[in-house]
Amino acid sequence: MPVPYKHEPLTTFKTDPTATAEIISSIKKVESELGKKYPIIIDGKFFESAHIVHSINPANKAEIIGRVHYATKEIAEQAIQSSLTHFETWKNTSASLRAGILFRAAAIVRRRKHEFNAWLVKEVGKTWAEADGETAECIDFLEYYGRQILELSQGRPLNHNSWEHNEFTYLPLGVGIVIPPFNFSLAIMAGTVVAAVVTGNTVVLKPAETAPVIAAKFMEVLKEAGLPDGIVNYLPGSGAEIGDYLVDHPKTRFISFTGSRAVGCRIYERAAKVHEGQIWLKRVIAEMGGKDTIIVDKEADIELAAQSITKSAFAYSGQKCSACSRAVVHEAVYDAVLERVVELTEQLIVGNPTEETTFMGPVISEQSFEKIKRYIEIGKTEGRLMTGGQVDDSTGYFVEPTIFADIDENARLMKEEIFGPVLAFSKAKDFDHLLQIANNTDYGLTGAVISQNAANIERAKREFHVGNLYINRGCTAAIVGYQPFGGFNMSGTDSKAGSPDYLLLHVQAKSISETF
Ligand code: SER
Repeated sequence: MPVPYKHEPLTTFKTDPTATAEIISSIKKVESELGKKYPIIIDGKFFESAHIVHSINPANKAEIIGRVHYATKEIAEQAIQSSLTHFETWKNTSASLRAGILFRAAAIVRRRKHEFNAWLVKEVGKTWAEADGETAECIDFLEYYGRQILELSQGRPLNHNSWEHNEFTYLPLGVGIVIPPFNFSLAIMAGTVVAAVVTGNTVVLKPAETAPVIAAKFMEVLKEAGLPDGIVNYLPGSGAEIGDYLVDHPKTRFISFTGSRAVGCRIYERAAKVHEGQIWLKRVIAEMGGKDTIIVDKEADIELAAQSITKSAFAYSGQKCSACSRAVVHEAVYDAVLERVVELTEQLIVGNPTEETTFMGPVISEQSFEKIKRYIEIGKTEGRLMTGGQVDDSTGYFVEPTIFADIDENARLMKEEIFGPVLAFSKAKDFDHLLQIANNTDYGLTGAVISQNAANIERAKREFHVGNLYINRGCTAAIVGYQPFGGFNMSGTDSKAGSPDYLLLHVQAKSISETF
C-alpha cells in the first residue's frame, strides 16, 4: 500500500532560486523544441495526416508551439477500433498494476515539473505560479486516483447467508472518449484520462484544440510509466470533423467532457441517441461552465474580500471555470470593497507569462479575445467602467483586467459566461438579497462568502447553491482530495473530480451470489 495521499506542494519561486533557475532553463529548452510535428498516436504508432494545424503561443501569435496532425473520420474509426480491441485485455488487469502506472507517472511528472510548467507557459499562456499549481494538480490526480482504485477494487462488504456467498464488484465500462479543456490542459486532461484508465477502460483522447502539445507530452509520460500501447489513443482533431463522430459511435461507451456549456449540451443530447449496433446507454460526464460569485456581507473583512475577489477574478485571465466573474456586495461596504478591488487590480502586472513578475498573461485565442471584447462593449452599456477595458492583439491576445460597477442583477454581464478578465460588481441591500443574486444564474459551480457573521455563514452553507462553496477565501484553486470539484445545474452532470466518488462514474457494479 502507498503512503496516505497528500497534495503536491507548490513551488514558491520567490524564495527558491533553484526552482527559478530550473523554470528559466526549462523555458529555454521548450523554446528550442518549438514547432515540432505532433502526429496522431494509435496503438503506440505514429500517424501523419494531410491536415496540419499549428498550436500557437497566445502571448505571441507568431510563435508556433507545434505542428499538429489532425485526424479524419477514418483515422478516428481506427482509434476506436484499437481502443475496443485493447479493452478486452486491459479490463482484466489488476487494480494494483494500473495504480502502479499512475504512481510512476506521478513521479515522472514531478521529475519533469518545470518542463511541464514551461509548456503551460508557452502553449496556454499560464504564469509561472499558475502553471506550477496546475502541474501539481496533475500529480495530485495521479496519486489520488491511484489510491482510490486500490480501495475501490476491494468491492463493498455485503450480507451473507449460510447457504450463499455474495460479492459486489466494479467493472469497467468500455471505450471512453475524453475531451478535456484548454484551461487545465495538463491537470484536467490527465485527471480525466487516468480516471478512465485506472478503472480498466480504454480511452480515445481528443486534446483541446488550443493545447494539443501538452497532451502529447503527457502521452510520453504514460508510455514511460509503463502504460501499454492502445490503452490511450491520442487523436487531435477539430470538433467539427471528428467530435460528433466519436460521440455518436455505437461502440463509444462513455464520454468525459470538460468545456463550454454549448458543447457539453450538444454532447449530452447526441449521446442520448441509440445508434445501430449499440447495446448500451452511453454515460456522459460533463463539466461545463460557471458564473461564479463572491458575496460580501456587511460584517466582513474588507481587505480579505478585496484580495479574494481580485485574485479569483483575474488569475489566469479569468479563464478558470471557477473564476469569480461577479462580486455581489452589501450596500454598506460596497464602495469600500469596490475601491480596494480597483486599486489592487490596477497594481496587477499584465504581460508575457515567460516573465517571473507577470500576474496575468493573454487569453487563449482570437475567438476568445473577440468574445471578451464584445462583452466589454456590453459592459459599457450596462454599468460603470472602473478600470481596464483596453485590449491589444498586435502580438498576443491581451485584455486588461476589467471591472464594471453598478451592474443590475439581471444584466447580461451577471448572467452570461464570458471566460475572460471581466468582473461585474453588483450591490445588494441585505443578506437575503446577496443570496438571491448569488443563486440567480443557470450555473452552480463555485462561490464564496466573505462574512464574519456566523448565522449568515450557516445560511450560506445551506442556501448558496454551488458545488464548491468557500467561506472567507477566494473561489478558485480547489485541491484534489481536499476540495472535490464540480458544480450543479448547467455547470455539468454533478460529478466531483478529485473526490472519493469520481472513479465510480467510470464503472458499473456487479452482484454475484454463489449458492453452495
Ligand atoms: N480546479 C480548478 C479550480 O478550482 C478549476 O478547474 O480553480
